[in-house]
Amino acid sequence: MCGIVGYIGERRAQPVLLGCLRKLEYRGYDSCGIAVTADGLQVYKDAVRVEALAKSAPQFGGTVGIGHTRWATHGGPSKINAHPHLDCAGRIAVVHNGVITNFRELRRKLAAEGHIFLSETDTEVIPHLIEKYDTGDLEAAVVAALREIEGSYAIVVMKAGEARLVVARKDSPLVIGIGDRENFIASDVPAFLEHTGRVIYLEDGQTGSITRSGIRINSGGREIAPKEDKVLWSANEAQKGGYDHFMLKEIHEQPRVIRNTLAEFTQAEETASGSDLTREIGVSPILMLACGTSYHAALVGKYVLEDLVNIPATVEFASEFNHRKNIFGKPLGIAITQSGETADTLKAMKRVRSQGGRVIAVTNVVGSTASRIANQTIYTRAGPEISVAATKTFIAQLMILYWLAMSNSKADSRRIASLLLELRQLPNRVQQVLDNEGIIAGHAKFLSRYEHAFFIGRGINYPVALEGALKLKEVSYIHAEGYPAGETKHGPFALLGRETPVIAAVSRDDTYEAMMTSMKEIKARSSPVIALSEDGDGAVEELADFVIPVPHVDCIFSPVVNCVALQLLAYYAARERGCPIDFPRNLAKSVTVE
Ligand code: AGP
Repeated sequence: MCGIVGYIGERRAQPVLLGCLRKLEYRGYDSCGIAVTADGLQVYKDAVRVEALAKSAPQFGGTVGIGHTRWATHGGPSKINAHPHLDCAGRIAVVHNGVITNFRELRRKLAAEGHIFLSETDTEVIPHLIEKYDTGDLEAAVVAALREIEGSYAIVVMKAGEARLVVARKDSPLVIGIGDRENFIASDVPAFLEHTGRVIYLEDGQTGSITRSGIRINSGGREIAPKEDKVLWSANEAQKGGYDHFMLKEIHEQPRVIRNTLAEFTQAEETASGSDLTREIGVSPILMLACGTSYHAALVGKYVLEDLVNIPATVEFASEFNHRKNIFGKPLGIAITQSGETADTLKAMKRVRSQGGRVIAVTNVVGSTASRIANQTIYTRAGPEISVAATKTFIAQLMILYWLAMSNSKADSRRIASLLLELRQLPNRVQQVLDNEGIIAGHAKFLSRYEHAFFIGRGINYPVALEGALKLKEVSYIHAEGYPAGETKHGPFALLGRETPVIAAVSRDDTYEAMMTSMKEIKARSSPVIALSEDGDGAVEELADFVIPVPHVDCIFSPVVNCVALQLLAYYAARERGCPIDFPRNLAKSVTVE
């Protein structure tokens, strides 16, 4: 979704800002713009990609500036609606992430006072309000303006002739990067990671005044000492590293991600205190809240927790949970969100907490809003994930869920010991799947000719079917549906035929025979079948048109090897169709609106 950048230092701001905006392209956007202080305020914006903006923009001087990538909510993508937005005099510029819920009322009032609005955005009221309250102290004017604003915001404000940027946040992330005689601001760390890894995460309700050499943070009207953090990600991790796409690179990183996440979790386990909420898994029922791919991880987690911990686990789409009339009892919440900024998930977490419940967040982003709302946070150590389609963060989420279940398991110790051994072998098993990339790419070429596909699975492989379908539709734009195999004959069978391939995740567990039956029924209706199955399973090979071989693992881990294979299938199908794999149309890396 929208991205914010800011720079103040000794270098020319324009190229620095454009470089930072390029790093935020992965968030998804439809327009972009910059403002710099040079001979007053110079603004350049349009409904184009950052590259096009960089090519067409005049060369501005000035060492202070702000920039933005916009994902349209209030008013379509256009030059006028793109950020930065200005006040009447064109001396105050603002970039904003979030939604101002009372903007209509504010706009009416300001218009009656003589302010002229150009765009359809909610954001434009902010520079006008600041203008109204500006008596010379920019930060004081921002604070006064924010008193009138309802909704969520992360903003950066600049004023012509002032070597200062003013920042503020409420329910939308903003982070300050500390450089040497220069400072950066962004909605997301990768924007400035090549310049600095020293950061200050702004908290809700705080404002800040940033100059080339100083950072002052105010909270509730009082200056506070800023808390500096160090980002553990390296700038290289946010580069393609020789791969054609981030998605492919991130798929290939998964053996390492599994190792890192497990190592992190075992170390945390050794130092965990008695108040560690993860120790309460197995005591109260569990409620998992998530969206999209993270929801699919939660569904796998449900099977694993119910099997190993013998505790009921409910999984809810966060967006649906937020409309529930009642929450029954006091379940232990587990919110899963790679970005830590998904608006629906954050709202659901707040709801659980407001009812007296406790929530563990599983997220990939240190300092994210989810980590601030949660009672406890467990980090997936996947490194920065740039491709919009989640891959390595999903696998890392699964690792956390396996570990939570195994470390609280009521299963017999021999089973757990053997699962632990297998868990440690998973990086090698995933590597075996990656080694079959050529075979999978071949099947993807076949799949890429179709416009519709079904993914089916049973038991723990039902979420695999959902995730396989989501991945394929996201990156290749092939219409795909994930179904529990047993449900397909209750309606979807009407769509079977030569034009509708079916991808079946077959695992050698108690669903095996039923999956074989489903595949026979599907074959009898002429749909081509691509089956994921254990290496050397002759029965599946005989039945399916194409087989994606995956190594043998305990069936509890089959979602890991199967999903990695389906990620590759989606990637190569999209590549065959010439899709913009890393930045699919209309999608955003973190969905910060409801
Ligand atoms: C995954 O490929 C998607 N881009 C999307 O479904 C994503 O998983 C969803 O928006 C949830 O994001 P989160 O994990 O950051 O909360």
